[in-house]
Amino acid sequence: MLGQIVQRIEQFLAQVQSADVERMADSLGQGKMLRSKLILAICPEHPQLLDFCAIIEMIQSASLLHDDVIDNAHTRRAHASINHAFGNQNAIMLGDVFYAKAFLELTKLDTKIAQLVAHSVMELSRGEIKDVMASHAFHADTARYVDIIQDKSASLIIASCAGAAMLARLDPQAYRVFGLNFGIAFQIMDDLLDITQPKEVLGKPALSDFKEGKSTLPYILLYQQLDPPNQERLQACFKNTDEQALAWCVAQFQTHGIVEQTLEYIRHYAHIALQAIKGHSALEKVASSLIEREF
Ligand code: FPP
Ligand code: MG
Repeated sequence: MLGQIVQRIEQFLAQVQSADVERMADSLGQGKMLRSKLILAICPEHPQLLDFCAIIEMIQSASLLHDDVIDNAHTRRAHASINHAFGNQNAIMLGDVFYAKAFLELTKLDTKIAQLVAHSVMELSRGEIKDVMASHAFHADTARYVDIIQDKSASLIIASCAGAAMLARLDPQAYRVFGLNFGIAFQIMDDLLDITQPKEVLGKPALSDFKEGKSTLPYILLYQQLDPPNQERLQACFKNTDEQALAWCVAQFQTHGIVEQTLEYIRHYAHIALQAIKGHSALEKVASSLIEREF
């Protein structure tokens, strides 16, 4: 089924009638298709299922194309990012093409689903603005962190799950709660992997969040447990690309048991997510397998 979604995306992009778009889209490739996996678990069959998944994946790709320009990223999905390979202008415009084509196709779906998805893109963009604003200085505010990832990461997951529930004629409310909490858990896990995994696993450089100016949960928890001189030292590591500074952070994570504490947060949100859809075994299975990535 995932292969059919990739084909549907290719069909949509072919309709744009631009060899440049197809060439750049080829080098972008596909990610884990997390949102499609959730959608398929919620709604295994519907005449518009492939279109819905393709639309969601194209919006996700559009947001990453723009995000890589904002973050000046060099790698995405283990390859050179589009901004790095083809320049910022092309990355922005390719993102616009993905976004516009996805919305054109979205207008062919039920209005309620279209509104749901449009609303989530508004939240996604609002979240990215919050993220950029927050990147100017380190902060150790857990509520602010959760608020940002709720917009930036959970919003499109909520729309995917609630939209799939609507297609399947299920009550979307439980799937909204699931999407919100699963989305938060998933992003925290992503932020944890950034500090625990090497670049070969991540498909992008390790420890890049702090270098990019992201105050993620592991750093927030660490800051809250350091004494004032070491808090200052941690702040000096923010946006610092110096290997020694990062090595000091890694050692501090170990000393203070930050990985385990971050895992507790992931378990907390994952538990709320799973409680909301208790008994929906296909979704429980997919969600658990997605959350149990390598630590
Ligand atoms: C990745 O964050 C970024 C997002 C999940 C959202 C980005 C959203 C926009 C740029 C809004 C524009 C939206 C559209 C549809 C055009 P990250 O930098 O923390 O993750 P990363 O490590 O994967 O880059
Ligand atoms: Mg980024």
